[in-house]
Order: sequence, then structure tokens, then C-alpha cells
Amino acid sequence: MADTEEPARPAPDLTVVVPTYNERQNVPELIRRLDATLAGHAWEVVFVDDDSPDETAQLVRELSTQDYRVRGIQRIGRRGLATACIEGMLSSSAPFLAVIDGDLQHDEALLPRMLDLLRGGDTDIVVGSRYVQGGGIGDWDESRARISRVATRLSRAVMKQELTDPMSGFFMVRADVFRNCVRDLSGVGFKIMLDLFASSSEPLRYAELPYEFRTRDAGESKLDNQAAWEYGMLLLDKLIGHLVPVRFVAFTLVGSVGVIVHLITQAILFKGMQLEFVTSQAAATLVAMTFNFALNNVLTYRDMQLRGWQWLRGWLSFSLACSVGAIANVGIASYIFTLDAQWVLAAIAGILVGAVWNYAVTMVYTWKKPKTA
Ligand code: GDD
Ligand code: MN
Repeated sequence: MADTEEPARPAPDLTVVVPTYNERQNVPELIRRLDATLAGHAWEVVFVDDDSPDETAQLVRELSTQDYRVRGIQRIGRRGLATACIEGMLSSSAPFLAVIDGDLQHDEALLPRMLDLLRGGDTDIVVGSRYVQGGGIGDWDESRARISRVATRLSRAVMKQELTDPMSGFFMVRADVFRNCVRDLSGVGFKIMLDLFASSSEPLRYAELPYEFRTRDAGESKLDNQAAWEYGMLLLDKLIGHLVPVRFVAFTLVGSVGVIVHLITQAILFKGMQLEFVTSQAAATLVAMTFNFALNNVLTYRDMQLRGWQWLRGWLSFSLACSVGAIANVGIASYIFTLDAQWVLAAIAGILVGAVWNYAVTMVYTWKKPKTA
């Protein structure tokens, strides 16, 4: 190496991973606070942004040209807090990894103490908790507080430890512990820390530090009603994911609701409006198929949700795939029926084949991964 060159920079000790979606206004302040609270430590921050319309990713790139400790990952055509955190952590070579929200609601002042605890060697993960003495949930209303309590109780189904705040999105973990279970993580929804606890083969040795959940000043929360559905899917994946993919379970659930929609439409058109049976059956099929597509798009494939023209293209391919699925369904069912099987068995076999076909084909053609991801 020539004398004039800068010496190589050693890797940081701590990577702080920050998932972001429309957090442009909060990014500079978070960096300032990390800088203040982590003074004297070798740290870096990685913002993992899902192509936010407010161009958070572009701002991060600009800031990283001024500060080498700032990095960014921009994901295209993807959504999801948990997978964003996983990919941010995978991009790090530091021995310690923290995850903190980008909206300043978590208390970054805990980070140095978290680091000390992990360096002590007896702890795998340190969790920021709103529910131990000294912590709090800020200005949450009673209904959100109640939902949080119920969700906490449900988490016992997939993890042994009795954490006070398994829903927390604020923690620091040893990188080797993370890498040991990274292949088993579900990556569904918001609860990346719960996912870690539930996926680790060895029970994690944990510590909890209290913090007060702050009020959000800029931007808005992305946690909506669908968070409950995603949480259910995460629990389900941890419980039965080794047997059936949860996406298939979700797809089948949506399909069952679609059957009800079909019957209601049929009742209105055929019974109510006295249309011909064939006409009303065809119309009900179209309505049910559209309903199934729309619901799958927001629930089953929320992380790859199609919008605008992509939505129309998706609807078309979904309808085509399901039409072929229906033919397969009827064909198989009729064939099995001719083998003298009971009609219920024949029907179920047909439905199953149709469902698997629809699921497999639409997974590849309707919600295909974008080229850049
Ligand atoms: N990359 C990415 N992709 N980031 C996302 C996404 C996404 O789809 N959705 C949300 N985020 C980012 C937000 O920009 C924010 O930085 C962070 O994830 C948390 O999102 P909020 O929308 O602010 O969630 P919250 O405040 O309602 O709930 C948070 O705190 C709870 C208590 O710790 C979450 O972390 C919950 O999981 C947690 O239980
Ligand atoms: Mn928040």
C-alpha cells in the first residue's frame, strides 16, 4: 500500500439497523442522536428503505457521502419491516446488531447499555421493554394497549421465554446468534424480535431494559389493521410452517371466503333478479375471482402488493390461472367420482387440486418477484 493512502478502516463493532418507510423527516435527527449517544464506540447505521415515495433512500445516500458510518439499502417492489431488518443485519460484519425504529419512538440512549450487556458475554439479546418497571407506552389509547396485551399472551404459543414485551421492535443481538437462526426466520410482518426468539434452536439468554415509548412527531405509523393478520400468520408459520407454507394457508382461507361471496352473488342474481342460471353463475364466478384476487393482493401478498396497471395485469393472470384451475378441479373430481368414490371425497379432491394449481401458478405469474429484487 502506498504511503499516501488512508489506512484501511476496521469494521464497526455495532451496526444499528433502521427499517424505514417514509421517514425522511426523522432520519437526520436519528443520526444526530446516535452520534451523541454512541460517542466513543465504533458504530454504523444502515437504513433499509422500501422505496419510500418521500425518497428516504435518496436522502440516506446523500447523508452517507458526508458520513461513512451511514449506509443505506433500497429495496424495490418489496414491503415488510421484518425482512427489511433481516436484510440490514445480513449486510453487516459487526459482532453486535441493533434494530431500532426510524421514527424516534424508541429510546436510543439505551444502546450503550445494551452493548455493555452483550459484551459481558452472558447475554445473547437485550430487549427494550415498555412493560418492565421504568418503561411505558407513552400516549397509546386503551384499545391499542389492550391489543398489545392480548398479542403478548398469544406469543407464548411460539416462545418459551416469558418476555414482558415480546412485541418490541427495539433490541440488540449478537451477530453470531442472529446468523445461527437466520435461515429459520419467517420474516412475516412486523415482529422480527419475536421471530428471532421463536426461531432459535437454543433458548436465547436475554435481558430487558425499560424505556418509555415516545410519541411520533413527524410522519405516520404504518401499523394498521392488517398487522393483526400478519401477526397471526407469523404465529401460524412458527407453529405449522414446517408442514405447509403459510401463504398457502392464507390463500386457502381467502378462497373459502370467496366461495361465500360466490354464493351470495349467485343468490342475488339468480334468486333475487331472476337471471338465467348460466349467466348468474358466470357473473358470480367473475365477482368471486375478482374478490379473491383483491383480498390475496392485500393479505397473502401484502409484501409484494400490486398497484395501478400492475393490479390489472395481475387480475387478468389470476383469472386465467383460476379458470384453468377450475377445469382441473372439475376434471379430477369427475374422474375420481367415476371410480365409485363418495361424492364428497371426489369434490374435495377436485377442490384441493384446483387450489394447489391456483396457488402455484399465481405465485409465479401473478405475484412474480420484480426483476430488481
Ligand atoms: N423498510 C420498511 N418496510 N420499513 C417499514 C415498513 C416497511 O414495510 N413498515 C414500517 N416500517 C418502519 C417505519 O418507517 C418505522 O421506522 C418502523 O418501521 C416502525 O414502524 P411504525 O409504523 O412507526 O410502527 P409503530 O410505531 O406503530 O410500532 C412499532 O413499535 C412497536 C413497539 O416497539 C413497531 O416496531 C412494532 O413492531 C413494535 O411492536
Ligand atoms: Mn412508530
